[in-house]
Amino acid sequence: MKLIHQKIRQIPKVELHSHLEGTIQPSLVKKIAKRNNIKLRDGLFTQQGDFAWNDFVTFLKAYDEVSSCLKHSKDYRDITYDYLKSCALEGTIYAETFISPDHAAEMGMSYEDVLSGCTQGIDDAERDFGIIGRIIVTCVRHLGPNQAVRIAQLMVDEPHPYIVGFGMGGDESQYVASDFTPAFQIAFDAGYPCTVHAGEVCGSESVWDAINHLPMISRIGHGVRSAEDGELIKTLANRKLSLEVCPGSNLALALYPDWKSHPLKQILKAGISVSLNSDDPPFFNTSVGKEYQNGAEHFNLDLKQLIYISRMAAESSFADTKTKAYLIKKINEWSID
Ligand code: ADE
Ligand code: ZN
Repeated sequence: MKLIHQKIRQIPKVELHSHLEGTIQPSLVKKIAKRNNIKLRDGLFTQQGDFAWNDFVTFLKAYDEVSSCLKHSKDYRDITYDYLKSCALEGTIYAETFISPDHAAEMGMSYEDVLSGCTQGIDDAERDFGIIGRIIVTCVRHLGPNQAVRIAQLMVDEPHPYIVGFGMGGDESQYVASDFTPAFQIAFDAGYPCTVHAGEVCGSESVWDAINHLPMISRIGHGVRSAEDGELIKTLANRKLSLEVCPGSNLALALYPDWKSHPLKQILKAGISVSLNSDDPPFFNTSVGKEYQNGAEHFNLDLKQLIYISRMAAESSFADTKTKAYLIKKINEWSID
């Protein structure tokens, strides 16, 4: 391994954007499905053993199928532990991951059971690897505004110190942002910082829609398509909104034909706060560690710029003040030489 790759591996990393149900490796899905007596559809995997999908809609379908193998609290404990372990082995010191109570409810699981599994996985991973894990509860856009309100209320009614924020993923082409203002308002009024997926499969108009109708958000999931609109880029920088950028996911989903078309550098130059993230690691053949390596390889980012990204991520994380201070101290203490 080249020296630069070794150094990048050691950088203290902060991941802010992954979907817990989308972090499950094919081998773990097979193991969990087997113990839950679930037969997986043959077409779920490619001949090489990866998840099979070919566009955003078939990706979401495969993701739903994988989620539907989770039936018990222990399943959530195991996937949380496995994900945080793999992050920690790549130098990650803190990871926020989205959980989707809607997916669990489909399988008849209560919110309490999901939460007890996830928090156990977080505790076990911190004990074994020192990584701090936290949860962002997400609603699913294509399931509609009423369901989003239900999820926000569920989160507010049953607080837990590891739940640090509220978000929304799913099919960005469905509904408009204002449909979800009531759900985000419930979360925000109860003190939860918010993030929303926008500017991923839809263009800059979707980001305008989000920032105009969901004023409570402090971060945007992806948001990379904002680069198509100079006025929007300026607005994001002025309002200090952070983008959770996931270049490997964007390339895999063919938002961009190649690395040189991806606007990460342009976004950084505009002074916008960014983090580097994996989104759904096994689906997109990535990980937070690979995203940092890609930063060097495909965007020419040096160690100083990569550590600066870790610092921006820590600052825009939803961690409490004490945890944030700890993360920033760890990042500042890391020496390039
Ligand atoms: N859910 C899981 N991954 C997602 C993505 N990349 N965009 C929107 N919703 C998602
Ligand atoms: Zn995402």
